[in-house]
Formats: sequence, C-alpha cells, structure tokens
Amino acid sequence: MDKDIHNEIIKVLIANESHLGYVPVILETIEAAAKVRGTGIAKRSPEYIEQKMKEGKAIIALAGKEFAGFCYIESWGNRQYVANSGLIVVEKFRGHGLAMRIKKKSFDLSRQMFPEAKLFGLTSGAAVMKINTKLGYVPVTFADLTDDEAFWRGCQGCVNYDILLRTGRKYCICTAMLFDPSKKHRK
Ligand SMILES: CC(C)(COP(=O)(O)OP(=O)(O)OC[C@H]1O[C@@H](n2cnc3c(N)ncnc32)[C@H](O)[C@@H]1OP(=O)(O)O)[C@@H](O)C(=O)NCCC(=O)NCCS
Repeated sequence: MDKDIHNEIIKVLIANESHLGYVPVILETIEAAAKVRGTGIAKRSPEYIEQKMKEGKAIIALAGKEFAGFCYIESWGNRQYVANSGLIVVEKFRGHGLAMRIKKKSFDLSRQMFPEAKLFGLTSGAAVMKINTKLGYVPVTFADLTDDEAFWRGCQGCVNYDILLRTGRKYCICTAMLFDPSKKHRK
C-alpha cells in the first residue's frame, strides 16, 4: 500500500453504506475543482452518489478517515457501455499516483460487474488521458460511444454544451476514450 506525502496510508476501497457520510465532501470537492478548471460538470445529486455507494459502484480513497479521492461507474445503453465518472483527488493528495489507483480499482470493478461491456470516458484532462491509455483505452470518435440519451444529458451542465449541440453530438472539446474487451489483444 502506498504512503502519501504526509506519510499516511491511503486506502482505495469499493464504497458501501458506511461511507454515506462522505457524500457532501465528495460533491463539494468535485464542484470546487470544476470551478478552478473552468469546466462545467454533470450535475450529481447527493441521492445519486448515495445510490452508487449502496450499489457497490463507487470507489473511495481515504487517508485514515480523511476523504482523499473518489469515482463511480455507471452502465448505459442496456449495460452495453460502462462509464467511469466523477473522478476527483483532493488537491493535497495529487501527484502521487492516487488517481491511477482509483481508476484501476474502478476499471477492475467495471470488468467484474459488466464483463461484456465496452468501457468509456469523456475527458479534457491530460492526467485522465494518460491513465486511460495505461489501462488499455484508445481515443475514438463520439460515434463509437453509447447513444443512450440519458448519458448525453449529463453534458448539459458543461460550459461547452453548445458545441456538442451544434455538431449534432459528433464533436466537442472532450476526447472520447474506449476500452473494448473484444479488442483487448490489440493493446
Ligand atoms: C486529474 C486528477 C484526478 C489527477 O489526480 P492525481 O492523483 O494527481 O493523478 P496521478 O498522480 O495518478 O497521475 C496520473 C498521471 O497523470 C499525470 N498528471 C497528473 N496531473 C496532471 C496534470 N495536471 N497535467 C498533466 N498530467 C498530469 C501524472 O504525471 C501521471 O502520469 P505518469 O504516470 O505518466 O507520471 C486530479 O488532478 C483532480 O482531481 N483534478 C480535478 C478534477 C478532474 O480534473 N477530474 C477529471 C475529470 S475528467
């Protein structure tokens, strides 16, 4: 297990009901980071994140009892696609490989829960592109992603949503990345 800058062991866990008390700090941290980056975010209610934890579809990182990081998984298009979303690492814990550990745990969980599904993500961040590449994702066009309307509604809160609309959902600022289990051997 890795030690962080404060010499504290950070655990990366599949969240459950015992972590519901962390929901407010998770949402506040995601929102504050989006403001700093100047991006919009898919609106997530406390109930939505709570549900993820209860379903065993969220990953939480804790330094002792202190919140350090988070992400969750969601299936789309009749479980044919799975997205890893809401990745956040608290600022003071960044730069030490924690996001990579969270994403790896989330990747393994997605593969276990939805073995046939294609895993995908939309990101404008270099760190996430690097992590996804290490996990075997490749860049794809938006046409290769789910056409599930509910997924794309998540983009409505983004400052660039007008671009997505204008291009008929073909192009936007984010890079789409996909892991297709049927093409694993091409890695
Ligand atoms: C993006 C974020 C999750 C990265 O967390 P982290 O724990 O610092 O990331 P890691 O230490 O695991 O780094 C993973 C890789 O990305 C690189 N990286 C980290 N931050 C980076 C940055 N700002 N720019 C470019 N590369 C970066 C690291 O060098 C590492 O690559 P390497 O393995 O080749 O060295 C964190 O900065 C964050 O929470 N940001 C705000 C929210 C956000 O942007 N979420 C993603 C939305 S898509």
